[in-house]
Amino acid sequence: MRIPPQGRSKDEIFAALQSYKAEDLDWKSGRVLGYIYDPGQKVHDVINDAYTMYLPENALDPLSFPSLLRLENEVVAMTANLLEGGREAVGNFTSGGTESLILAVKTARDFCRAVKPQIKQPELVLPVTAHASLFKACHYLGVKPVVTAVNGDTFRADVEAMREAITDNTILLIGSAPSYAHGVVDPIGDIAALAREKDVLCHVDACVGGIHLSYMRKLGYDVPDFNLAVPGVTSLSVDLHKYGYTAKGASIILYANKELRKHQIWACSRWTGYTVINAAVTSSKTGGPMAAAWAVLNYLGDEGYQEIVREVMAATAKLLDGISRIDCLQVLGVPDMCMFAVASTDERVNVYQLADEMKKKGWYLQPQFARENSPSNLHISLNRSTVPQAEALLETLAATVKEMQQQPVDPKIRQLQAELEKLALNFDEQTFFKLAEMAGVTGTEPPESMATVNMLLEALPYDVSEFMLTEYLNNMMVPGDK
Ligand SMILES: Cc1ncc(COP(=O)(O)O)c(C=O)c1O
Repeated sequence: MRIPPQGRSKDEIFAALQSYKAEDLDWKSGRVLGYIYDPGQKVHDVINDAYTMYLPENALDPLSFPSLLRLENEVVAMTANLLEGGREAVGNFTSGGTESLILAVKTARDFCRAVKPQIKQPELVLPVTAHASLFKACHYLGVKPVVTAVNGDTFRADVEAMREAITDNTILLIGSAPSYAHGVVDPIGDIAALAREKDVLCHVDACVGGIHLSYMRKLGYDVPDFNLAVPGVTSLSVDLHKYGYTAKGASIILYANKELRKHQIWACSRWTGYTVINAAVTSSKTGGPMAAAWAVLNYLGDEGYQEIVREVMAATAKLLDGISRIDCLQVLGVPDMCMFAVASTDERVNVYQLADEMKKKGWYLQPQFARENSPSNLHISLNRSTVPQAEALLETLAATVKEMQQQPVDPKIRQLQAELEKLALNFDEQTFFKLAEMAGVTGTEPPESMATVNMLLEALPYDVSEFMLTEYLNNMMVPGDK
């Protein structure tokens, strides 16, 4: 494909863009139980107007566009207040949870370079349930991730395991509020107390839960301590583009004070161009997400968020209750907010096949692999737009489970399962190709069943599955016909 020699008409362009969306998940249906945080049309209108109003402005230079500095400081102040940052709390606007977490790790690394120069090989201690982007941060920044177990019933971090994992090289402990996979809040008070005792930093990943949990608290729900008020918590990330219900590209990284945040900032005056001072990873960036976040916080206000949280929690209670009545489905742990993991206790109901069957009926549930003591499961995150669909979700889940229970297990699945079980004993290239063929992942065509692909990815050694995933994306993301 080339840039067309003559420009196309606006009508033609928008018709083409619309047609490109045909295969996308239908997020407006309220039946997409991950990825989407939809506050409804009225809020979208506010987001769209604020976003486009600030689309061309460049947040690269706060002196040239002081209104963006003001927006950033005001959004950070509102968020820090909600998360109970003290008088000295500071923070920055970032493009998302991943950027906030990369910055939290970079700040901890550079802080320790300054105050503990004896540490040459920094380590970060994190529960296995911590978000993948922390592994990415470690990979990018040359920090060693030291992974610890979680309790097998609650799926919360095991603080004693974290204690044992601490060495002279530890710079940072991580707790999630909540962890994405199971939706449970780690014992942040105990993790932060351990960090204080060992004189290391402590980051709370409240990317997904920071806003929702804070309003649950205001509404009187029983929410474990998780925010910046907990002694020993030195930084916290909270995404506005999740349960803050604003446009994508909006997260906040907060620090207890400027002394720490100083290590996040990067300045460069040694090249031939303009002076660079970046608080975050990105440099040139649109003011759109910042303006949209500011607008949504002001538009919804405490009252608006509380109304949403009340609705979503009522739907969550209904769903949890309904799922507990479906014969072989089991919610893992006791979720603290509106997201959770559902496993199956019946071999006829393979959760990955269940996800495929639900997808055929218009529902998206997210497969999550068995890791450590957490079995294969499907993730469900509720948000405002899924509330009216709760009843339909329960009915479809119950009916689909029943249909699966009435069928014998597909012999192909059983055979693949048996081969995968042998994998740990003997893994070589030949076994790999045989399994890949059985799972339907040969060639470049998308596999017929995602269930078999998920089963294969789940069972492979991590380095092999990660290699496969990298190859897959590398092959998929190539420009078509040149
Ligand atoms: C707990 C947690 N941390 C970090 C992230 C990464 O956020 P993002 O996708 O905005 O980079 C997520 C995403 O779901 C999350 O749930």
